[in-house]
Amino acid sequence: MSHQEIRDSVRINLLEFARTAFKMLPPMDNPSILDIGCGSGIQTIELAKMCNGHITAIDIDVPALALLQRKIKEQGLSHRFSIMKVSMLNLHGLGKTYDIIWAEGSIYAVGFENGIRDWKQLLTKDGFLVVHDENDRVEAKLQIIKKHGYKILGQIDVQHEEWEERYYKPLLSILANKKLPESEFRELRKEIDTFKRTKMGSIFFILQNKS
Ligand SMILES: C[S@@+](CC[C@H](N)C(=O)[O-])C[C@H]1O[C@@H](n2cnc3c(N)ncnc32)[C@H](O)[C@@H]1O
Repeated sequence: MSHQEIRDSVRINLLEFARTAFKMLPPMDNPSILDIGCGSGIQTIELAKMCNGHITAIDIDVPALALLQRKIKEQGLSHRFSIMKVSMLNLHGLGKTYDIIWAEGSIYAVGFENGIRDWKQLLTKDGFLVVHDENDRVEAKLQIIKKHGYKILGQIDVQHEEWEERYYKPLLSILANKKLPESEFRELRKEIDTFKRTKMGSIFFILQNKS
C-alpha cells in the first residue's frame, strides 16, 4: 500500500460531509462536473455515485491521477470520467463550462479570492461551486463570495475534532502498526503539528453563480 492509498483509506471517513454538501444542490440530470485538484479522487468517485453526470477531474499530481484512473477502471466507471493533468493555474484550455465545480482542499493553490472570481467563468449560468477549505478567515471569505456574485446555499463546518477522530488518529494508528521507519513519518508529523497548533478545522461553502 502506498502512502497515498493509506491516506485514502482514512480520507473516506470524511466523505459524509461531501455527501451532505451534494444534497444541498438541486437534483440535476446528467450534470457536467469539474473537480479541481481531485488528487487520487476519493470525493471524485463519490460524486459519480451521487449523480449520473460526467466528471472532469484535474490535478498536477501524476501518481495520484494514475491511482484514480486505476480505481475507476476497477469499478467499471471509466466512461463517466475525463481525467487530465491540468494545472488550475491554467484552466483556459478546458474550453467549456460546467454545471458544478467541486474543489476540496485545493483552492489554496490559486488563492481563495482568485479561485472564487476566476472559476465563475467556467460555470454555466446559475451553475454551482462547492469549495471545501480551511476554516480560517471565514467572515472575510464570505465577503469575497458575496462580492463576486454568488448566492450562498449552505455551509458545513467540519470541526477540528472531526478531523482528529476521523482522519489523523486512524492515519497515525495505521502507520504505527506498519512499523515504518521514523523518516517515513516526518512529513506527516509536521502536518499534524500544524494541525494541532492552528486548531485547524474546515468548511464547505455551497454556492450558486448568480451574476
Ligand atoms: C489537499 S489535496 C486535496 C485532494 C482532494 N481534492 C481531496 O479532497 O482529497 C490538494 C490537491 O490539490 C492539487 N494541486 C495543487 N496545486 C495544483 C495546481 N496548480 N493545479 C491542480 N491541482 C493542484 C494537489 O496535487 C493535491 O492533489
